Amino acid sequence: MRRRDFLGKSAGLAGSALLPAGLGAFYNIPALPKGEEPEKNEVYWAQISQLYPRPEGYINLENGYFSHQPLPVLEFHRQKERDLNTRNSWVMRREQTGIIENSRKDLAQFLGCDAEELAITRNTTESLNTVIMGYPWKKGDEVVIGDQDYGSMVEAFKQAANRYGIKLREASVPLNPVSDEQVVNAYSSLFTSKTRMVHITHLINLTGQVVPVAAIAAVARKKGILSAVDSAHAVAHIQFSIPDLQADFVGASLHKWLCNALGTGFLWMKKEHIEKIWPLMGDTGLPKTNIRRFEHQGTRPLHTIESIGEALRFHQKIGSELKEKRLRYLMQYWTSKVTDLPKIKLLTPHRDDKRCGAIANVAVDGYSPDELSKVLYDKFRIFTVAINHPVVNGVRITPHLSSSLEDLDALVAALTTL
Ligand SMILES: Cc1ncc(COP(=O)(O)O)c(C=O)c1O
Repeated sequence: MRRRDFLGKSAGLAGSALLPAGLGAFYNIPALPKGEEPEKNEVYWAQISQLYPRPEGYINLENGYFSHQPLPVLEFHRQKERDLNTRNSWVMRREQTGIIENSRKDLAQFLGCDAEELAITRNTTESLNTVIMGYPWKKGDEVVIGDQDYGSMVEAFKQAANRYGIKLREASVPLNPVSDEQVVNAYSSLFTSKTRMVHITHLINLTGQVVPVAAIAAVARKKGILSAVDSAHAVAHIQFSIPDLQADFVGASLHKWLCNALGTGFLWMKKEHIEKIWPLMGDTGLPKTNIRRFEHQGTRPLHTIESIGEALRFHQKIGSELKEKRLRYLMQYWTSKVTDLPKIKLLTPHRDDKRCGAIANVAVDGYSPDELSKVLYDKFRIFTVAINHPVVNGVRITPHLSSSLEDLDALVAALTTL
């Protein structure tokens, strides 16, 4: 079915009466491809790609900020928004609890964790700020963070340092690790008897590197150090379950690779920690052991929470394993074609399957990140983002399931010309 046909359908849906859950049924989501290397079956992926809205006039290779919703999820979300605005407070007063609990259950099942350890938040920033601001720090406590951690978490730790007198130590994560041990050592060499927590970015947004979280957390645990994990870019991108990480706290956003609407995330924490953490927003009404203490957000976009289930359904039609393979294939498709070009430097461990996914970072001699990103857009109509960071300087390239090999060929041609 061609894009126009899908769009025609979606226009019809938007104006029609309310539809039941599972709008995916109204779209022709293709059956999984058979045969070897399904991640390279371009007939299948062209059909999947058409399920995503696509911008006019440029190639979007900056899908790292957030993900666009596939049409079935987008339509479900719109319908639920319309329903909420039609039935208004009735939904909030009579159905809210059930909707949140259903989403919690669906998400817990997907993540392989206990729903009673899972809070639905607005994003990773809120989830991890809850832990960073709410941990009962004592003056002199130490925390090990990574030198490529996301700015919001670093800022939160800096504020906690100013407020509670904790000390931050920064691990230098190698850009092209030769082994897990090398990465583990970068963190564990900074552990002291005063270290209370290690903060690990699961999939680094700057470079796309996947960090061996479980190996770091295992060493930390032996020393009585808690692990807080930023899985913002890892969820629904690379395959894992919460127990795999061996962590104490995990925060993530669902508007990134799960492709839910903007404004949902989760905070998972081990049951034993729930009563120790102070919520960001006061809630003394619930028992201290209840994970829902961390969901006191005030009035919230309930339809967005409700569409988590639909985003999971769409994701699972493709499956985590195949989606991860496709995303990594797209990244390796273009990086393998430019890696030997003179003046090109790839800042991602792009050949090492267990250390990468969709995201890679490229630098070209003679261009600053801003200049490179600008020329890619101005001359070649390829949208990317410049990364100017003390450790990483290049342009981040992030294809998605909506990207085609032609999009990546255009990038390769542009980089070759430059
Ligand atoms: C590694 C990482 N952590 C956290 C975040 C913050 O996510 P959000 O803005 O959804 O809270 C991002 C956003 O890009 C990220 O890349």
